[in-house]
Amino acid sequence: MSLISIKHLFGLQNTPKNDIEKILQTAFKFREVLDRPIKKVPSLKGKNVLSLFFENSTRTKMSFDLAAKRLSADVTSFSKGTSSLNKGESFKDTVQNIHSMKIDCIIIRHSSPGSCINLTNYVDASIINGGDGFHEHPTQALLDIMSLKEKFKSIKNLKVGIIGDILHSRVARSNIYGLTKLGAKVRVCGPSNLIPARIESLGVEVSHDIKDTVKWADALNVLRIQRERMGIGIIPSTREYRSLFGITSSLINKYNKDITILHPGPINRGVEVSSCVADGPNSIILNQVLNGVAVRMSVLYLLLGGGE
Ligand code: CP
Repeated sequence: MSLISIKHLFGLQNTPKNDIEKILQTAFKFREVLDRPIKKVPSLKGKNVLSLFFENSTRTKMSFDLAAKRLSADVTSFSKGTSSLNKGESFKDTVQNIHSMKIDCIIIRHSSPGSCINLTNYVDASIINGGDGFHEHPTQALLDIMSLKEKFKSIKNLKVGIIGDILHSRVARSNIYGLTKLGAKVRVCGPSNLIPARIESLGVEVSHDIKDTVKWADALNVLRIQRERMGIGIIPSTREYRSLFGITSSLINKYNKDITILHPGPINRGVEVSSCVADGPNSIILNQVLNGVAVRMSVLYLLLGGGE
């Protein structure tokens, strides 16, 4: 029985503000558990959690697996490459067979937007979206927001710039929904062909001027430039992107030395962000990864109605 108003976490667009606040509040408590010598609590003992990843992942999958283990749940992983999908088994048969094994919660990553919602047609487990195409990546946004809250204490009126390929980014969409619900001022900045039309209707500002955005922002969430989009007319070249929108030490030192830098990973060093910035004093990138475990513990605990 969920301890918040939702049974599934599909995205932040339809997650009430109160639930987002409860997830963050609980995540900070679990963050303390991660600092203990024994980083484990019995809250989800006897629950079965499955990670069902149809796309590659380092952070999200490992972080969910670790979060479930820290809560004493049993964790099973599905790997597309070694599954019977390769023998022609359908998505429906795959998930129904998996569910017959009495799974309580499924974390799914899939290239198809809405795949997490589709899963509810076949199983009655709690479903968590680990990234569905260009749509949403809610736990990434929650860990980004937690990291900002840790640094700035409050999200209200915080100026957050989201930089890069907004059009194809599930991270951008989830951050926009979450941050605006909590009262942040959000600006998206990137090449005009990578900013969705009418995105202002989501309550964000649009800019194509990186210098002005660096001057304006308290924090920048720098998105990964997807290399597969380079050189096919969407982004002409790595060098051009870097010169127009790359976040470098000289840029931040010139316009806003105190700016905080986030990146969801994986990073293209020397493209959207220089190594000096990614590894430098303004970066909270590795802290985001640690907070990711705490946020995912919180989401699992609240959706599965964990005990003490
Ligand atoms: N940020 C993120 O989703 O990383 P992975 O693709 O490695 O999970």
